[in-house]
Amino acid sequence: MYKIYLIILFLLPPLYLLYFIAMYLRTKVPYVATPKRYFSLIFKNINITPRTIIYELGCGKGDFLFAAEKFNPQELVGFELSPLHAFWGKIKAKVLKSKVKILCHDFFKANIQEADIIYLFLVKPVLLKVWQKLREEAKKGAIAIILSDAIPGVSYKKMIDTNPDKKKSSKIYIYQL
Ligand SMILES: C[S@@+](CC[C@H](N)C(=O)[O-])C[C@H]1O[C@@H](n2cnc3c(N)ncnc32)[C@H](O)[C@@H]1O
Repeated sequence: MYKIYLIILFLLPPLYLLYFIAMYLRTKVPYVATPKRYFSLIFKNINITPRTIIYELGCGKGDFLFAAEKFNPQELVGFELSPLHAFWGKIKAKVLKSKVKILCHDFFKANIQEADIIYLFLVKPVLLKVWQKLREEAKKGAIAIILSDAIPGVSYKKMIDTNPDKKKSSKIYIYQL
């Protein structure tokens, strides 16, 4: 019996790698989670009230949404194309009795008009396409928080340096639409 467990254990990493590659080919965005310590840096710079609606486009397991829930916003919604990550997030929401809602949908097809705050961690070519969607469809005054790349030619409200002491440091940009 233990041989079966051993075989499964050996098969899991290559299977996950294949899944990771397949998802990358589909979305053109690799799954990389936002380091958890960035969330407190973000929350110091935005205002979440009980009426705030928060969306995360490409939410993975929904880490940002779960972290934002402690501020008791009205709604937290994540869109994620990877069924495995979306499933994990849904299970977590059930177990924690959380109001985080994770939808296994393409965010390009999502209605984002309600969102007051939108969190994005994507790669530049996809981010620029999403930016177009935000400009056309998001509520005026909504806040877009972007980890990684700035939007060329658009001035941001705030830039957060995640590691000011180091030469190589990720940046988080906060835009008002
Ligand atoms: C870099 S990961 C970030 C995950 C999470 N937002 C975080 O910061 O921890 C980007 C995620 O976006 C998802 N994604 C890319 N394109 C998507 C699309 N069109 N619709 C839904 N999810 C998408 C990918 O599957 C991936 O999980």
